Amino acid sequence: MAEQPRRVLLDGLDRVIETVPGETLLQALERLGYGMRRSCRNGVCEICEVSLLQGELQQRYPNRHLCAPPAGAVSASTVALACTSVPLTDVRVEIKGLKLPGEVFVKKLNCDITSVEVLNRDVYRVFLRLPATASLALDFRAGQYLDICLPNGRKASFSIASAPELERAVELHIRLLPDSEMSCAVMAHLQNEKTVQIEAPKGLCCLDAVSLDANDRLVFAAASTGFSQIKSMVEHLLARQVKNQIRIYWGARDAADLYQLALPEQWAREYANVHFVPVVSEPELSPDWIGRTGVLPQAILEDLDHFGDTHVYASGSPAMVYALLDACEAHGMETSQLHSDVFAYAPRPAKA
Ligand code: FES
Repeated sequence: MAEQPRRVLLDGLDRVIETVPGETLLQALERLGYGMRRSCRNGVCEICEVSLLQGELQQRYPNRHLCAPPAGAVSASTVALACTSVPLTDVRVEIKGLKLPGEVFVKKLNCDITSVEVLNRDVYRVFLRLPATASLALDFRAGQYLDICLPNGRKASFSIASAPELERAVELHIRLLPDSEMSCAVMAHLQNEKTVQIEAPKGLCCLDAVSLDANDRLVFAAASTGFSQIKSMVEHLLARQVKNQIRIYWGARDAADLYQLALPEQWAREYANVHFVPVVSEPELSPDWIGRTGVLPQAILEDLDHFGDTHVYASGSPAMVYALLDACEAHGMETSQLHSDVFAYAPRPAKA
């Protein structure tokens, strides 16, 4: 009975979605861009509870055949786990806190600062721990960023470097800029205090493994600490075991600035669908560098000659992102195939 599409009426929203055969409620919702609280995805944490108001579900774990209570029953609903429940009939469900496609609820959260370690001459890796309370869980997508809020009210934005699958742990890569008062204040707070307030999630340049087409080729272009945003997306894709081709280009002025080089090298060794290319733009600063040299657009175009099935995710300065867009467009890529947070705050420069 489960092997056919089923209609799911989202109670209170007056919207109907359709599952594909065998798909769980959570898979269908995420495929269509909805967001709801979820964590383990395998029926253990129970954070994804929904109320079944009409119809029948097969909950795979814990294994149960669930029926909505008959009309007029004392209990007006049956509780089901969205991540393991497949509709057996058309159903009506109530999902508290369901986010519509594109809808983002930004939360202010107090986090523990669990570690601050230096990765190279000026980049620090910071781990924060999110509150334990389920209602304060941070529901972010790979590629989004957060604001660190200092006690004086000033804020600074940083990409989240960890994947959502890391649950309560949030990783950041922060470059200390000695000439920037704000940068010094952020690092001083993180190094000397036990907690920090964040605002998250933010940013529209993100991806979700469930929304990918199986034939999409994904190209990630990161400049310097832009690697943090790319790391979140790639780790999410690897955690979700996608088989799409993934090409990662990480560019920096010199080799020392590729502060976590061993990590993408390890991905490329361990996953057949991952290819990694580090690129150094000023090799005279790194006499021992024997890898690729030049700038990111050049390196990418040396390797790729068509973009029809490609989505490019770029994380770096506006100059880098727009240079990459210009270069790829000249080779037939549509503007909509390049994704970057830069588009939200830096308009495209007029062409000379
Ligand atoms: S996400 Fe953990 S039980 Fe569904």
